[in-house]
Amino acid sequence: MAPEVVSSQPNLRNDPPTPVNDSTAAKVVVVGQGYVGLPIAMRAVEVGFDVVGYERDKERVKRLQDGRSYVEDVSDATLAAACKSGRYRPTTELADCSGFDVAVITVPTPLREGVPDLSFIEDATRELAPLVKPGSTVVLESTTYPGTTEELLAPILAAGSGMVPGRDFCLGYSPERIDPGNHTWDLHNTPKVVSGIDAASLASVQEFYAALVDSVVPVSSPKVAELVKLLENTFRHVNIALVNELAMFASDLDVDVWEAIEAASTKPFGFMRFTPGPGVGGHCLPVDPSYLSWKVKRALGASFRFVELANDVNDHMPDYVARRITALLNCDRKAVNGSRILVLGLAYKRNSGDARESPGPVLCDRLAALGAEVRAVDPHLADGQFPSAIARAELSAEELRAADVVVVATDHDAFDWDLVVGQARRIFDTRHRVARRPNVEYL
Ligand SMILES: NC(=O)c1ccc[n+]([C@@H]2O[C@H](COP(=O)([O-])OP(=O)(O)OC[C@H]3O[C@@H](n4cnc5c(N)ncnc54)[C@H](O)[C@@H]3O)[C@@H](O)[C@H]2O)c1
Repeated sequence: MAPEVVSSQPNLRNDPPTPVNDSTAAKVVVVGQGYVGLPIAMRAVEVGFDVVGYERDKERVKRLQDGRSYVEDVSDATLAAACKSGRYRPTTELADCSGFDVAVITVPTPLREGVPDLSFIEDATRELAPLVKPGSTVVLESTTYPGTTEELLAPILAAGSGMVPGRDFCLGYSPERIDPGNHTWDLHNTPKVVSGIDAASLASVQEFYAALVDSVVPVSSPKVAELVKLLENTFRHVNIALVNELAMFASDLDVDVWEAIEAASTKPFGFMRFTPGPGVGGHCLPVDPSYLSWKVKRALGASFRFVELANDVNDHMPDYVARRITALLNCDRKAVNGSRILVLGLAYKRNSGDARESPGPVLCDRLAALGAEVRAVDPHLADGQFPSAIARAELSAEELRAADVVVVATDHDAFDWDLVVGQARRIFDTRHRVARRPNVEYL
């Protein structure tokens, strides 16, 4: 049965925030003020909730209190306005969360040596449990494998609150779908999948998100909602691996894979455009599919072969790019050892300042290990985020001219592409950003 997409009423996107009497506004706690939690907190403030941004990182809380955002999709002005409204309180104090009506958990779910690490979720849930009151609602948003909400959260909340999930309070899961830097699809116009452990929980979770987003998609259980997120990211991961592998073969076959992808993309049905690159990065694609394969292995003893193959292909891409750069230098009778290589972009995607799990730094390491003098430019990365082992450079004509090869690893709009094309001796473009010229080679 196809899920029902339910339009939320009212659509508050362009309307002024719901007028609320502060004494009656529902209290929302968002646990974790990161890439996911901060935008949710801002949106909840915008529509009239009384919001506590509970964050364990003192430095982050200080910045939030000062109105200095560290999440690109939240401007300083939005943050400052939220603080000024009196309806947003960033805090490290758990006591500030007491009496909540809705708590949304948006803490990290990393892999530790290939194994899902749910310790952040466990900690956050344990902290919230004594604060749960009859009738309140707890929603998990962190990406995780099917079963987490019912098998992990429910018992912790029951033990810590002394109440029964479903009977005394509501519990559900709603996966986050934000795409940082995407100005077309954002939190409030991207349909939000919602679920609950029972009908009352689903109704409560649905009602909460209906106030935040244009449309909600209720599904029958948290397990389904948890799988939705992993399906979406595994789909993307596998398809990127497909075009990456195709790019490697096409190069050897001397066929332009980029032209083939563009032409295939004209098919109005049955094809979806994915493009090759130096690997996958960010918090989601290198991590989420492994949550699913781990669960499949543990519960069924089976290998999720598509995920393993995609991991294999995508993880190999920085090595492959290093090999292509070696071949390119060879054309100039140069070795990688001793060559100067300028890498443009270390963030995992265009116009983002997120270098977590990014292939760019891995590529730099590979080239440096071969003896290259590697320098990198990324205007989106603050000093604290720039990998300390890589020499930081600014984009300039001298820097470009001094490089034996300029590698386009991330195609930020902020780069002066005319300058790059005009000054670089050789360009290896992994993103097909610069126009075709004799000194340009594509992945
Ligand atoms: N970043 C994305 O684009 C994205 C998109 C969809 C889903 N997700 C998922 O959302 C979840 C959060 O990701 P993120 O990118 O926002 O992570 P993040 O690291 O940017 O933010 C998480 C925050 O939670 C804080 N935190 C951890 N434990 C805490 C605790 N017990 N109490 C209070 N604060 C705590 C951390 O200090 C950190 O600031 C992950 O499961 C991720 O997979 C991320």
